[in-house]
Amino acid sequence: MGDKIDLNTLLNGKSDRKKTLGLFDLSILGIGAIIGTGILVLTGIVAATDAGPGVIYSFLIAALASGLIGLCYSELTTSIPNSGSAYVYAWVTIGQKMAFFAGWTLLGVYITTTATVANGWTGYVHSFLREFGILLPDTLIKSPFNGGIVNLPAIIMILLVTLMLTRGTSESKVLNNILVIVKLAIILLFIFVSLSDVQPKNWSPFLPYGTTGVFAGASTVFFAFLGFDALATSAEEVKDVQKTLPRAIIISLLVSTLLYVIVSLVMTGVMHYKNLNVPEAMSFVLIENGHGVAAQIVSGGAILGIIAVVLAFIYASSNITMSMSRGGFLPNNLATLNKKTGSPNKALWLIGIVASICAGLLDIKNLAIFANVGSLCVFFLISLMVLLLRRQHPELKRPFKVPFGRIIPILSMLVCVFLLANLPLNAWLNYFGWLIIGLLMYFFYSKKHIKIELEDTSNSGKGGDASDIDKDDDDDALLD
Ligand code: ALA
Repeated sequence: MGDKIDLNTLLNGKSDRKKTLGLFDLSILGIGAIIGTGILVLTGIVAATDAGPGVIYSFLIAALASGLIGLCYSELTTSIPNSGSAYVYAWVTIGQKMAFFAGWTLLGVYITTTATVANGWTGYVHSFLREFGILLPDTLIKSPFNGGIVNLPAIIMILLVTLMLTRGTSESKVLNNILVIVKLAIILLFIFVSLSDVQPKNWSPFLPYGTTGVFAGASTVFFAFLGFDALATSAEEVKDVQKTLPRAIIISLLVSTLLYVIVSLVMTGVMHYKNLNVPEAMSFVLIENGHGVAAQIVSGGAILGIIAVVLAFIYASSNITMSMSRGGFLPNNLATLNKKTGSPNKALWLIGIVASICAGLLDIKNLAIFANVGSLCVFFLISLMVLLLRRQHPELKRPFKVPFGRIIPILSMLVCVFLLANLPLNAWLNYFGWLIIGLLMYFFYSKKHIKIELEDTSNSGKGGDASDIDKDDDDDALLD
């Protein structure tokens, strides 16, 4: 057992990290994390294979689910601002084992999301260079599961982004803002250039695969909304976190939903859904309609813009890693901040290396659905924890409270179960594999090193005393 640390210190989120993120930065970080491979790669595939033009409904269902979950996240995050996100909330409301389960799952989700997104990025790099006559060999751009040896561009990109993050959040923030603007610009370009090519006859039939297809599509395109939750992990670096964080979550969800709905409507209006089964659907549609230059701009912008998603997810994973290691669940030195940059460099490199190995060697589709299963399990837990925390600590200050009592958290749980039920079995099997590795980690390492004695600070044995949670405690013992 390591040194004992007061749970209240953890809840107060005392840290040496600079508060550099305002509403604009945070919304941009959210949009940067949300809009990426999902809309650029999945829209066409889901329209062709699952939902037809009804993919727009799939996006709306997934958006509704994300909105409900986002509200629940906001209540928890503003009540307990801490970069550990679901891991810390689970600790407070349910206990140590569930904290590990939530943290470990989130870690797996963020790593596989990073790897999926980097995989999709390679597709756009490949098609962009092909237009200039440069052909990358299949063996070096595909994983062994997809007929190649290794996805080298994805590995290099992840490692470069990691290197950049080790130089500090402020520097990465400027780059992130630029990349997000580029990403929004290419999506708007696609919409405006394609608008005049829309032929309403392509929307008929609108639901070729019925509602079943729409629901299956919703479970898949849910991936396109992942990222709003990653905002919760930046809580320690946010100015005026209580107001800024819920607003940023809602703004970034609204912006991305609007864009997704318009893009899917335009894409299926311009080309019959059956022809959309290609990974780089946006540039494909433009090329097919004679907009070669716009197609190249879109591909180039996608290459830059997708980097912002990788950046946001590596950043979020390192925050979870750091938070779990502060609690003793993971080795202590992963929480060390670099003196010069204030970044958790060891955590960043660990995540960057693991994610790049996954991106280089694993199959993109399995990575994506793993991310969906894991995140929906955590989101179910998040919604449940809103109710638990209200019951256990009704006196806790809640700068943001989900309206309409218990209705929204309950609806949110139901939506998560519904989307989970539509995901394939192999996604579940991969997730259980990850949990088994986690269990080994927990029993052979974490249990011996957990630093926080809940009994020392809690009356109920389930978390810190709520009156203490609001106290301004100067203890910053969690940092090395
Ligand atoms: N939502 C992110 C994307 O679609 C993960 O790339």
